[in-house]
Amino acid sequence: MNEPRKMILDCDPGHDDAVAILLAAGNPVIELLGITTIGGNQTLEKVTRNARAVLTIAGIDGVPVHAGCTRPLVRQGVVAAEVHGDSGMDVHGYAVPEPTVGLDDAHAVDFIIDTVMSEPAGTVTLVPTGPLTNIAMAARKEPAIVDRVAEVVLMGGGYREGNKTAVAEFNISVDPEAAHIVFNESWPLTMVGLDLTHQALATPEVEARIKGLGSDVADFVVGLIGFFREAYRENQGFDDPPVHDPCAVAYLIDPSVVSTTKVPLDVELQGTLTAGMTVADFRAPIPADCTTQVAVTLDHAKFWDLVVEAIEAVPGR
Ligand code: BDR
Ligand code: CA
Repeated sequence: MNEPRKMILDCDPGHDDAVAILLAAGNPVIELLGITTIGGNQTLEKVTRNARAVLTIAGIDGVPVHAGCTRPLVRQGVVAAEVHGDSGMDVHGYAVPEPTVGLDDAHAVDFIIDTVMSEPAGTVTLVPTGPLTNIAMAARKEPAIVDRVAEVVLMGGGYREGNKTAVAEFNISVDPEAAHIVFNESWPLTMVGLDLTHQALATPEVEARIKGLGSDVADFVVGLIGFFREAYRENQGFDDPPVHDPCAVAYLIDPSVVSTTKVPLDVELQGTLTAGMTVADFRAPIPADCTTQVAVTLDHAKFWDLVVEAIEAVPGR
């Protein structure tokens, strides 16, 4: 069994963020130290409520939830109601309960700093699956966290494709300035971008397998996939929805699920057509001291095995 991996999930639930929470909470390799939230798929208020609702459905009450920044560093906030619905986590055929899991007082940025500074150096991994505002703020408020974080494994960006624009992925395009800060710090960083996550398709076979679990949590996930499938069909031309965010968690659990390659990365801030693009410099030679890498190929079967096992493992209500 792999070493337990301490992680903080910084997210904006969000259908795929919800699955990322279940995977992190339900896999024994992960020690989920806390969930921090960031305005993205919907407003901060809505995504924070959704995070608490997911924990409530999963029956997890020992993981603190901390709300973070309401808007990007420089730009106006944008939400993705067309993909995630008015609530940020609309589901088909399942009534999301009123959360019974509480909200902690401390701001997400302070929770991230305090946790990284109090845990042994090199043990805490940050897994952002929304806009990078909280992570950038934490790095600026307490620069000492940069050397203490084990690594940053984020869902965002892409080296070949975008979804918000032709070249920019949603999480990065919402707050490119924050992404620029995070990508240019010296911590090891893995970009689990669209190149990888567009392979994480929730096929009808996957959906049937989850449905077959026959639990309340499984019904919730089937409801998430149902809404997400329709949204992706209408907005992005996908038959099956790509379930992006748990790919970053899966990589942390078992690196063999995701192949990676080292490459220098940066974030475009200026271009009228390219703002928010993650630029990967594949020109040889890749510098020996390169601290960034991109996810390339997903082992689809192994990935969904992990997700299904986690759905089965969480206690439920
Ligand atoms: C990313 O954007 C959000 O809509 C999803 O939750 C995911 O984190 C995909 O571009
Ligand atoms: Ca997300």
